[in-house]
Amino acid sequence: MKISQLFDVTGRRTLITGAASGIGRGIAEAMAANGARLTLIDQDGEALAAVAELLRQDGATVRTTVADVTDSVALRTAIDAMIAAEGGIDVVFANAGVSAGPGFLTGDGQRNPSASLENLSFDTFERAVAVNLGGTLRTIQLVTPALKRNPGGRIIVTTTVALHKTETMVSTLYVISKAAQGQLVRQAALELAAHNIQVNGIAPGPVITNIGGGRLQDPAARAPFERFIPMHRLATPQDLQGAALFLASPASSYVTGIQITVDGGGSLGTAD
Ligand SMILES: NC(=O)c1ccc[n+]([C@@H]2O[C@H](COP(=O)([O-])OP(=O)(O)OC[C@H]3O[C@@H](n4cnc5c(N)ncnc54)[C@H](O)[C@@H]3O)[C@@H](O)[C@H]2O)c1
Repeated sequence: MKISQLFDVTGRRTLITGAASGIGRGIAEAMAANGARLTLIDQDGEALAAVAELLRQDGATVRTTVADVTDSVALRTAIDAMIAAEGGIDVVFANAGVSAGPGFLTGDGQRNPSASLENLSFDTFERAVAVNLGGTLRTIQLVTPALKRNPGGRIIVTTTVALHKTETMVSTLYVISKAAQGQLVRQAALELAAHNIQVNGIAPGPVITNIGGGRLQDPAARAPFERFIPMHRLATPQDLQGAALFLASPASSYVTGIQITVDGGGSLGTAD
């Protein structure tokens, strides 16, 4: 089969949460550039409108809804509106997520008392779990009836390499919220396989986005990550577009329940 058919997402009715920034925005750009029809959801209405406008200027078909993925009513309304307007859903990127702050070590290997186990905040824990795990579960729940009516659908969750490894410079609260999200991908994939719905994850290492107040945009904050990552650079959202297109397209027709790690070799260990 030709690459143009293998990776064809033309006309695929695609829902993306957390699409106004970072990885979600990069996925939206890749899907739009390849002819998908987009419905973008984000809690940040201003940023969402700006991203949608740029995509439309490039000729994309884009709908937007401002919604918080922790708000069941708002998310259901947004997804029902997409189904009514588009007649169904083909591809879902459950991508919205939040940081829970820095880890228990600083970039220079010192202890960071404010992020030590005994000082972790339950308010931060509850928000991380509500968005990263609850928001993903809610998104999957709400799209599943439509995907069952339209076999061949894809659910793609933005997880993290911290599913497979521990972290020192990323909050324990984030790691545990995303670890549960990783198991949700596997459970959903297992249950939905008989309905011809494929569920997979994209597991990035550190990516330069606006997460955590955009701290990785600061070269000083990036430096310790760049030291340990074998490719000695952090990802940009563009580095994740290939995995997104693969999981959304016929190229991954027999793939379900996996995580595609995109981390410059970071989960292999440190080389030099
Ligand atoms: N940046 C990284 O280093 C990194 C690494 C691994 C995984 N991830 C994951 O990637 C995903 C995207 O993060 P990003 O780095 O692009 O961050 P980002 O902050 O640049 O973008 C996240 C977007 O999600 C939206 N959002 C956040 N909470 C929301 C909510 N409750 N409801 C609706 N929208 C919400 C934000 O408004 C923002 O537009 C997250 O799931 C994150 O856990 C990020």
